[in-house]
Amino acid sequence: MTEKKYHVITYGCQMNEFDTEVYSKFLEEMGYAETKSPEDADILVFNTCAVRENADKRLYGRLGQAVGWKRNRPDMVIAVCGCVARKDGQSMADRFSHIDLVSGPGDIASFKDNIIEILEGKTPVVSVSSTGDELDLSASRKSSVSAWVPVSAGCDLKCAYCIVPYVRGDLRSRQPENILKEVRELVDGGFKEIILLGQNVNRYGLDLKPRVKFSELIREIGGIDKDFRLRFVSPYPKGFTKELIAAMTEVPQVCEHIHLPLQAGDDNVLKRMRRGYTGEEFVKLVADLRAAIPGLSITTDIIVGFPGETGEQFENTMKLVEEAMFDNAFMFAYSARAGTEAAKMEDQVPHEEIMQRLYRLIEVQNSIMFDKNSAFLGKTVEVLVEGPSKKDPSRMTGRTRDNRVVVLEGETFKPGEVVFVKIDKTFLWGLKGSRPGG
Ligand code: 5AD
Ligand code: SF4
Repeated sequence: MTEKKYHVITYGCQMNEFDTEVYSKFLEEMGYAETKSPEDADILVFNTCAVRENADKRLYGRLGQAVGWKRNRPDMVIAVCGCVARKDGQSMADRFSHIDLVSGPGDIASFKDNIIEILEGKTPVVSVSSTGDELDLSASRKSSVSAWVPVSAGCDLKCAYCIVPYVRGDLRSRQPENILKEVRELVDGGFKEIILLGQNVNRYGLDLKPRVKFSELIREIGGIDKDFRLRFVSPYPKGFTKELIAAMTEVPQVCEHIHLPLQAGDDNVLKRMRRGYTGEEFVKLVADLRAAIPGLSITTDIIVGFPGETGEQFENTMKLVEEAMFDNAFMFAYSARAGTEAAKMEDQVPHEEIMQRLYRLIEVQNSIMFDKNSAFLGKTVEVLVEGPSKKDPSRMTGRTRDNRVVVLEGETFKPGEVVFVKIDKTFLWGLKGSRPGG
């Protein structure tokens, strides 16, 4: 008998990448093995992202392609999971009759039962509730070096542009003892990097009774007496406490990198986005963090063209970017998402205007990034080797503690190893280096 196969196509954030490892685990428990080619899969899963319209559009394109595959192999099961599944629910199943399962992120715990039901009954299933029991599930980890550990799901803030609270529900935090147990098992099992995940990670524990502070969780994890790197994504600038900064400086495993989404540099735009901080407060936080943590790299997310953003307000974002000197930035054109507050706002900025602003911002940010990476030329950095490079599998890549990608030259690098390399070339995307004298 030939082996049954599955394939998961993943869009979106790290939370989704982690969920893919959970779907994979369920499918492996059912006797399916991963295939690299989606058209050969007996079960094909789309794990989707709804945060911007492009990802949504790409998904519907790919779904069209999957119709063709299923025509040749009618027994193929197609599951659409993740945030678009939650957003479009039944209407997606109605529109594409070849979809067997539509399952939201809050329904991940029922995924296996849903698949069994489909295999037995061959009837389509739609399962989309916004909150569920999704935090203590096991994952089939794709990396043997770095492990994601969810600490919370959902988000209890409602930034005006953001669809996340609607598709992932309110904040639900995981019990600290379950997190600690999992981290301990992972580092005992040889993992060298733990990345704590939460939609809004520093709001972890605010919903628990008794409350647990995120900074305490960091300290407890730091108490595990092992050599590993600890990271967390993504924190929210408001509520980034002094206690958290102190925990970051005092817990040796915490790496010198923070992803701190700015979204906009103008106070009026920030207010209408409901971010709860001003540009000045953000700059102050950046300065406090840099003062407390030597060598800290700071990366960010910025949205260009929020409804009503004037040319002048955009210039304030440009100024803040020049001042903050981010080590990297994800810069997005604002995309209206039905159901959010911003989608109903008047004065939507014309697409062409948004793109012109975005290109200007990218240009300025790229030049900052290029200079920041150039400063590493000739320096020796500590790199955790992750595995073969996606672009050039003959080379290994890794990351510095401050999260720069380093392509390693030479053949003596093993995944999981921490090595010191001398940087001999720098790029916009990262660094290249080899063992000193090697
Ligand atoms: N349009 C454009 N970008 C968005 N993001 C979230 N919602 C939108 C939207 N409607 C961006 C934010 C967030 C990142 C994950 O995606 O910058 O931090
Ligand atoms: Fe995309 Fe947000 Fe869902 Fe992550 S949580 S997959 S970024 S919509």
